[in-house]
Amino acid sequence: MSARILSGTEIAAQVRAELSGRAEALATTLGRPPGLAVVLVGDNPASRSYVTGKRKACNEIGVRTFDFDLPAATSMDELRSLLERLNSDGAVDGILVQLPLPAHLDERAAIEHIRPEKDVDGIHPENAGRLLRGEDGFVPCTPLGVVELLRRSHISTRGAHVVIVGRGQLVGRPLSCLMLRKGEGGDATVTVCHSATPDLARFTRDADILVAAAGRPRVVTAHMVREGAVVIDVGVNRVGTTASGKARLCGDVDFAPVAEKAAAITPVPGGVGPMTIAMLLSNTLRAAERARSSTPT
Ligand code: GUN
Repeated sequence: MSARILSGTEIAAQVRAELSGRAEALATTLGRPPGLAVVLVGDNPASRSYVTGKRKACNEIGVRTFDFDLPAATSMDELRSLLERLNSDGAVDGILVQLPLPAHLDERAAIEHIRPEKDVDGIHPENAGRLLRGEDGFVPCTPLGVVELLRRSHISTRGAHVVIVGRGQLVGRPLSCLMLRKGEGGDATVTVCHSATPDLARFTRDADILVAAAGRPRVVTAHMVREGAVVIDVGVNRVGTTASGKARLCGDVDFAPVAEKAAAITPVPGGVGPMTIAMLLSNTLRAAERARSSTPT
């Protein structure tokens, strides 16, 4: 079998086209463009590259970004006071603090400083708790992107055995909650595997939908995949540089041999990554729409 390639690039372009109309309508009703503050601390090259992509995508659909590139030596007090200012700024609908933060900063405290209504990354404890309880709130962008990619590819999760490799706060854990929810994009039977799971292949071979989010290059090899499975590769690992000096990327899945067995697979790059950005735009518009409906007239 040779897998159908699920192009996140193409699906994300459709999503962005739909969102750009919504952004335009919002700008008219708000009397200002929807706004996202994007905070980058330090000079991690991967983070800088993600942040550049996010800002560009926002500007292309009419979301104004407020860009804060802070030096690596920024103190917790400085970061806290910036977040407080952004929390009360009426032109800022969403706040994104790119992770990871430099080691001397308290990531948890920073996240808790973002007002939950502006937490378009869905990582504030209030939003994380809402997701766990199956309540409405902001959901992290990558898990949302995975669900949207499956939905738009007409791959149902209902009754499917979804095996997730990875239990991180940005992908594995929230994705497990999303796929357990009742209704479209959910209703799956979910298994979460991680670094302490013995004999990983025993679990992954049983997956109808296998999601690799371990953050380790090519941990999912062909013998771990059932013939006809759907394979979603969330990994973005930097493995050297190309001839033109760009980072060479590879996923958590050993793509070519796995594509021989799978029914469908996402590439890296061009799979989940563009969907993450599209969902950030979607969450930002949602934050702006909510801000509008809660503004006293
Ligand atoms: N670092 C890697 N992925 C993400 C993400 O989705 N949001 C934030 N804030 N940081 C990240």
